[in-house]
Amino acid sequence: MDEVVASAPGKVVLFGEHAVVYGHPAIAASIAQRTTVTLRPAEQPGVHMGRTPLDAAQHPHLATMMGHLWDAERGPGLGISVASDVPRGAGLGSSAALAVACATAFRAARGRHVDAATGAWHEGHASDGTEPDLFRGESVDAPKTLEGERVHGEAAVSAEEASLLGHVAEALSQDGRASPMDTLASAYGGLVLLSNRVEDEETWVMRRTMPVEQHERSWELHHLGDLRLNEGLSLVVGHTGINAPTTNMVAGVAERRSTDKGIDEAMNAIGALVHRGLKALMAGDAEAVGRAMTENHLLLRRIGVSHPKLETLVSAALPTSLGAKLTGAGGGGCMIALTRDAKATSEAIELAGGRTWITPLGTQGARLEACPEGGLLRPD
Ligand code: PMV
Repeated sequence: MDEVVASAPGKVVLFGEHAVVYGHPAIAASIAQRTTVTLRPAEQPGVHMGRTPLDAAQHPHLATMMGHLWDAERGPGLGISVASDVPRGAGLGSSAALAVACATAFRAARGRHVDAATGAWHEGHASDGTEPDLFRGESVDAPKTLEGERVHGEAAVSAEEASLLGHVAEALSQDGRASPMDTLASAYGGLVLLSNRVEDEETWVMRRTMPVEQHERSWELHHLGDLRLNEGLSLVVGHTGINAPTTNMVAGVAERRSTDKGIDEAMNAIGALVHRGLKALMAGDAEAVGRAMTENHLLLRRIGVSHPKLETLVSAALPTSLGAKLTGAGGGGCMIALTRDAKATSEAIELAGGRTWITPLGTQGARLEACPEGGLLRPD
């Protein structure tokens, strides 16, 4: 069938949330829960979700991506469908998974190829040929390819592009504010690290630069890959059911920081912990990873982003796990526990009132599941 299907995973933050806003490093991992986007040529012109024309207010990521990547003049009408098991509004990167899956799908639908000869790029191609010069990147190598993308022998999308385009879509639909963490984890899969400096030449993939208000913000992005910890190790994600917007939580920390000097000390301690966590991950020392996670949780509590329900779920998880912490912005949302007994940990969290998901630590990133030769555009 002539359809393009792409999928991308959600993410959890293993170490370093909030401190990353102040220049410290953070590590995120992709999870088993994924979002799948299907593009089908349709009889009727325009782009539809079901029978309804795509509503930009309701689907800003899809609309942004389409505006930049899809040539409605040359392309056939399109039907888009989205299926996802990444819970929304839980800090698990559902909007990034959608943006990255979309970027992968539209890029492939255009039948476009990565220019393997160039290592530097400007992105955000508009259908009229202009490029909103929103993002710049310098990459180490020619773009790397996505696993599974060589459906017809040609690379149409790379993880690098999918992460960049996903980040563009997130920023454009969130008033220019978006950290590249979620889209990086979703596009590359496995474990990723971002920092304001190059932490490790081996795993560094690119510098991402984005204008934020009057400033230029840049991040050094690293792909740690699939660090295989011991077999039988899982993450259990526990959702408090409480929705706490990330912007409010970040603003709360900034406010407390102006009067409480201890917050900066806690941030520095988190920075040091991320490095310890990274070492433990690289060494495959699951016990040390778990301990660092629990310590990270205590520091997050110190900076005021925990919540009684998060505390309940973390305490419930600890007796059967190697370590547990809140993940993401806090104030509600989710916690994670690293465990060798996913069933017992998940049951303990559920008994304490959380909703759970089980995932390996790092999963495959964006994936092009199907694509007809040459994409969906009509030939010239
Ligand atoms: O709300 P989440 O899970 O996407 O996590 C936000 C992570 C913060 O460090 C709190 C904010 C950020 O932009 O990095």
